[in-house]
Amino acid sequence: MKIAVIGTGYVGLVSGVCFSEIGNHVVCVDNDPSKVEMLRNGEIPIYEPGLQELLNNNVYRGKLSFTTDIGQAVRDSELIIIAVGTPSMPNGEANLSYIEQVAIEIGTVMDGYKIVVTKSTVPVGTNYKVKQWISELTDHPFDIVSIPEFLREGTAVKDTLFPDRVVIGIDNPRVREPLIELHKSLTDHIVITDIRSSEMIKYASNAFLATKISFINEIANICEKVGADVTKVAEGMGYDKRIGNTFLQAGIGYGGSCFPKDTEALIQIAGNVDYEFKLLKSVVEVNKDQRFNVIHKLEDALGTLNGRRIGVWGLAFKPNTDDVRDAPAIDIINTLIQKGALVQAYDPIAIDNFRLVLNAPEIEWSKSAMEAAGGCDAICLLTEWSEFAEINLTDLASIMKQPVMIDGRNVYGPKEIESSPFVYYSVGRPNLNTIDDDKHVTVVLH
Ligand code: UDX
Repeated sequence: MKIAVIGTGYVGLVSGVCFSEIGNHVVCVDNDPSKVEMLRNGEIPIYEPGLQELLNNNVYRGKLSFTTDIGQAVRDSELIIIAVGTPSMPNGEANLSYIEQVAIEIGTVMDGYKIVVTKSTVPVGTNYKVKQWISELTDHPFDIVSIPEFLREGTAVKDTLFPDRVVIGIDNPRVREPLIELHKSLTDHIVITDIRSSEMIKYASNAFLATKISFINEIANICEKVGADVTKVAEGMGYDKRIGNTFLQAGIGYGGSCFPKDTEALIQIAGNVDYEFKLLKSVVEVNKDQRFNVIHKLEDALGTLNGRRIGVWGLAFKPNTDDVRDAPAIDIINTLIQKGALVQAYDPIAIDNFRLVLNAPEIEWSKSAMEAAGGCDAICLLTEWSEFAEINLTDLASIMKQPVMIDGRNVYGPKEIESSPFVYYSVGRPNLNTIDDDKHVTVVLH
């Protein structure tokens, strides 16, 4: 199929590259000439494992190209995928102005029948707005389709080429077969539905996953008070197939470009039809609070933070990405600075992006995890990059002013902690300095 993908952000670029990989001719369109130039030179503006190789291969074999010329791209394609951003407005509602702009451009330039797919996450009913925006500008026939994207940053290529399911929302049966044909090599689980349900599936899925995370974080907070271990609780719950074992990792809450934005948007979508989504409001509130537990634990360990030197490991909202959008590290470092602390921050790849969001004279940027910990009163682990798990805790303690660690992601196991000199706080696990894991009984050492 000949496909134009409009928008070369995360969703657009990965989808475009992957559709070319499975044999389609894809042209990716962006209105930013410098971005298109970069992509033409084989440079990728995001960090995403595996994407570079696929991009290079498909450009080489003539299946993938990049342009700023939306008119040519639309005219040359049978299927047009809209994958531009829908950022949150101050009230949480999704801003549809980029979608509208693209719809207007499509309507202006199309010269024959097109299938117009929306992949951007959009509130229920948006595809019908797209239909209206386009139809006001053209007499040519077209169909609108909603195909929400479920890829995760860091595993986006795998998620796109091997999805759990593909959801296709249609309002005209004639698009059913070509769209099944386009996706059938990816999965057996193709859900064909109406457009509004498809739009809702995306929000409901993200809201449910966010709910799982806030749920396990609250269980973790209770575990800390009653002396239970949330990792065991999650394991014990997860074997129940009705619950499942994923998205039950307690930590410092979710961040990123999707969950925070989509949960707020769904609350708004419900509010617009006079429904108060009480459960989801609590999920959001729990998530906002959870990151500050790192500060509470630091204060518990150190007393005042004024004048303290605190190492921060991990700035990205999760590992294997350089994305810092809504990363818990932003609020945590801001609070540390407000409380008078000096911060030594390290992330393997997200420092440049982080500095654009938060830069202050109180932050020193470190080139390694050990450099960030040097001379510190405490180290806070905020993103579970694999390199942190490999650090020798005795060596680490020897370069710190005092061996205090707040592990926001439960990276270290009881054995490593037991044999280390660290005063160690994690999330929802009893103080591991005081636990004999084999017998799972508490032995108070200090
Ligand atoms: C998410 C959805 O998973 C994806 O389907 C959708 O298309 C976009 O939003 P992403 O934001 O890339 O993807 O990351 P994800 O791996 O889902 O993690 C989101 C956040 O939840 C991260 O901050 C992560 O640290 C946190 N998380 C995840 C937990 O705290 N605990 C978990 O058990 C899982």
